[in-house]
Amino acid sequence: MKLWSGRFSKDVDSRVNDFNSSISFDKRLYRQDIEGSMAHAEMLCKCGIISSEDNRAIQNGLKGILEDVETGKLDFSADAEDIHMNIETVLTERIGDAGKRLHTARSRNDQVAVDIRLYMRNEIDAVSGELNALIKTVTDIAEKTTDYVMPSYTHLQRAQPVSFAHYIMAYAQMFLRDRLRLADCRKRLNFCPLGAGALATTTYPIDRNMTAELLGFDGICENSIDAVSDRDFLIEFCSDCAMTMMHLSRFCEEIILWCSSEFGFITLDDAFSTGSSIMPQKKNPDVAELCRGKTGRVYGSLTALLTVMKSLPLAYNKDMQEDKEAVFDCADTVKMCLHVFTPMLATATVNRDKLRAAASKGFINATDCADYLAKKGLPFRDAYKTVGKAVMYCEKTGKDFESLTMDEYKELSPLFENDIYEAINLENCMLNRKAAGGPSPESVKIQIENLKKANETI
Ligand code: ARG
Repeated sequence: MKLWSGRFSKDVDSRVNDFNSSISFDKRLYRQDIEGSMAHAEMLCKCGIISSEDNRAIQNGLKGILEDVETGKLDFSADAEDIHMNIETVLTERIGDAGKRLHTARSRNDQVAVDIRLYMRNEIDAVSGELNALIKTVTDIAEKTTDYVMPSYTHLQRAQPVSFAHYIMAYAQMFLRDRLRLADCRKRLNFCPLGAGALATTTYPIDRNMTAELLGFDGICENSIDAVSDRDFLIEFCSDCAMTMMHLSRFCEEIILWCSSEFGFITLDDAFSTGSSIMPQKKNPDVAELCRGKTGRVYGSLTALLTVMKSLPLAYNKDMQEDKEAVFDCADTVKMCLHVFTPMLATATVNRDKLRAAASKGFINATDCADYLAKKGLPFRDAYKTVGKAVMYCEKTGKDFESLTMDEYKELSPLFENDIYEAINLENCMLNRKAAGGPSPESVKIQIENLKKANETI
C-alpha cells in the first residue's frame, strides 16, 4: 500500500512502480534524509505542532534506522519508491502513529531539496579536499624544480625557456581557481528549502530559521516556489567539476606526451603505470589516459542536468528525480580521478637532463637574441629580422646560436659582441625573466608562496 494511496482505486501497475522508483540510487541520501527529518521533528516540537513524546519517539526511531542502515541490517524496498518514503515507512512500522506525524508541514519536495543540498555540501568539501592535496603535490614538486630548465611551447612548437616549476605551477593556479569556484558554489547553495512544503509553505506555525540553523545552513531559501524548483546548485557543481576535469585532462595530455620516449621529460612510477598484453616493452600511462577519458563523463553529467532542467515549468516536476544519478556520477568520477592522479604525479620522476636537452634545441633563446640587439639600440622589429636570418643560417649549416663563431655573428650584425654568448645561455635566459609571474627562480618562489597563502584561506 502506497503512502499516497488515499485517492486511488487500484494498485499502481508494477511497470509504473519500477519506473517511478528511485531508491536504487537515492538510497545514498539516507543520512541526509534522517538528519533533515530529525531537525524537522525538533522544530515541529518546539513550535508546539507535535508533542515532546512524539518527538522523542521520532528521534530515537530515526537514530535506530540510521544505525541499522549503517550496519547493513536494513534493506530498502522498491515498493516504497524513494529514500524518503522508505525511511518514513520503516519509522512508522517501528514507532506507530508518531512516525505518521513526522510528515506534518512537509512535502517530499522540500525534503528532497534539503537532502540533496546537505549531500552536495559534503561532496563539495570532498572534491575540494582532493584538489587541495593535488595543489600541495604540485607545489612540492615546484619547490624542487625551480632551476630545471625546459622549453615552453606555443602551437606545440618550442617557444621560450622556462623552469619545470614554472610550468607546472600554471596547473596549480587552475586548481586553485577550481577550489575557489567550489567554495563559491557552496556558499550559494547553503540555504535551507525546508518549510517550503510542496511549494507554498504551510498553515502550521513553523520556524524555518530553526531548521536552517540546526542543519548548518546560512539562512532559508526566501521564495518557497524557488526553494523546491531550484537545481542551479547541482548544475553549478557539475560545471565546476567539468572545469576541473578540463584542467586535469590538459595536465594528463602533457603527462602522456612527457612520458613517451620522444619527450622523456618524466618517468612514471611502476605502481602507477600499466603493461600491454602483447607488447612486452610497453609501460603505459593508463591513469592519465583514463582521467582524460573520464572528462567526457563529467561533461555528460553537466549536459544531462542542463537538459533535464531546460523549460521545466515551476515548481517541482518528476523530471527532477533525474538530477541525482548525473550529479552522483559526476562527483564520484571527479573524486576518483583526483584521488589517483595526485599520487601518480607525486611518484613520477622529473628527468632534468631530458628537459635541458629539449631546451637546447629549437632556438628557444631566439627572443633573447633579438632582445640583445634591441638593447644595443636596434629597433626590435629589425632585431627580430636579423635573428630570423640567424636561425635560417643555423638551420642551413646545422649550427645553433651557441656554436656560431664571433665572425659569423658579426656577419649577421656588427652590434654582436662577445657578451652575446652569455645573453643566449639558456639558464641566463630563464634567470633574467624576473618579471612578476615569470620563470626566474625568485619569481616562481614568490608565486609558490602566494598560491599557498591563497589556498590556505579557502
Ligand atoms: N524521489 C523524488 C525525487 O527524487 C522525491 C520528490 C518527490 N516528489 C513528488 N512530488 N513526487 O525528486
